[in-house]
Amino acid sequence: MKLARRIDALVIESAFDVLARARALEAQGRHMIHLEIGEPDFDTPRPIVAAAKQALEDGWTHYGPPAGLPEFRCAIAQHVSKHKGIAANEQQVCIVPGAKPMIFFPIMALVEAGDEVLYPDPSFPIYRSMIEFVGAKPVPVPMLESRGFSLDLDFIADHLNERTKLIILNSPHNPTGGVIPEEDLRALAELVRERDVMILSDEIYARIAYDTTPVSIASLPGMQEKTILMDGFSKSYAMTGWRLGYGVMPEWLAKAVTKLMANSNTCAATFVQRAALEGLEEADAEIASMVAEFRRRRDMFVPALNEIPGFRCAVPSGAFYAFVNVEGTGLSSTQVEEILLNEAGVASLDGAAFGEHGKGYVRFSYANSFDNLTEALKRIRETAKRWKRD
Ligand SMILES: Cc1ncc(COP(=O)(O)O)c(C=O)c1O
Repeated sequence: MKLARRIDALVIESAFDVLARARALEAQGRHMIHLEIGEPDFDTPRPIVAAAKQALEDGWTHYGPPAGLPEFRCAIAQHVSKHKGIAANEQQVCIVPGAKPMIFFPIMALVEAGDEVLYPDPSFPIYRSMIEFVGAKPVPVPMLESRGFSLDLDFIADHLNERTKLIILNSPHNPTGGVIPEEDLRALAELVRERDVMILSDEIYARIAYDTTPVSIASLPGMQEKTILMDGFSKSYAMTGWRLGYGVMPEWLAKAVTKLMANSNTCAATFVQRAALEGLEEADAEIASMVAEFRRRRDMFVPALNEIPGFRCAVPSGAFYAFVNVEGTGLSSTQVEEILLNEAGVASLDGAAFGEHGKGYVRFSYANSFDNLTEALKRIRETAKRWKRD
């Protein structure tokens, strides 16, 4: 029996691949520092854990509506309106298990085979995977280090055509930590306003920003009806394993996404929705302290990376990744990843896993303790002494 050909288009995030290799080395007795996985090392805020326990006690263990519990959709609409400066109503909100389905479902609902989708390069590998899965043409938009890892707008202007269906944005950005400045979003909005194009705006790191408050393109005039704003609880609320995300989009699209939910997951776990409902605003203090700690680590880690021979790292404005240009080492980014894993016991990610324009970069997640980051730097420094040995 052969698998359907569409399965060949799907990739699995290489972070999980490196994690498996690092675990195999650990099984042989090697000590590893894990800077490969994009997962907060903090516990889920206590009010949310307490609310989940209570929800289970209260019997929130049954099916819920496919679009999400009405009270939770309402709370998300208010939350997004308050934080993003848009006027959302609950009919525009779909609750899904994790943020990833909010990439999968809108692409399934909107994009036909032969359509074109512009997406950032480098970027979260699932975008391209999904574009190819539906038989569309992926059009990678370079994210330029020279522009603080913002979009190459000239490239977008040159590549928009009548087949372009969707443009994917991600700000703050994985893997670079870049934040798209408001003027770039305004310029992009100008480019698409009169076109039949939708924007999928992945804002999963929006609350993890250090220098400015990231702007949502949905808040710009006329853009809410052209935007699927996606966000979730994995990163800002340290809830990766709970699987909870959402999208805010025009009602006609929310209905289509709801159909996809009804045909796949049925609903996001009801007790998880109840827990997040309780914690949505109450977790603010814990989120603020997580972000403060990420900032403290960034301010130590990034300058120290810049002292490593051959490394150059722009200061990330958001998320929890340092995206290091390693061309100066004389090694490829694949080699640097390998050497750091096998010799230094530091797991990182080759930027090539995020697209063509990620080649020559290595991503380190600083969602790890200050002590582990300090130890990782020590190990990288030692290993770097041997960069040019061959
Ligand atoms: C940019 C981006 N979008 C979406 C996701 C998926 O989030 P979730 O784990 O909630 O599905 C991730 C996770 O790493 C991400 O980095």
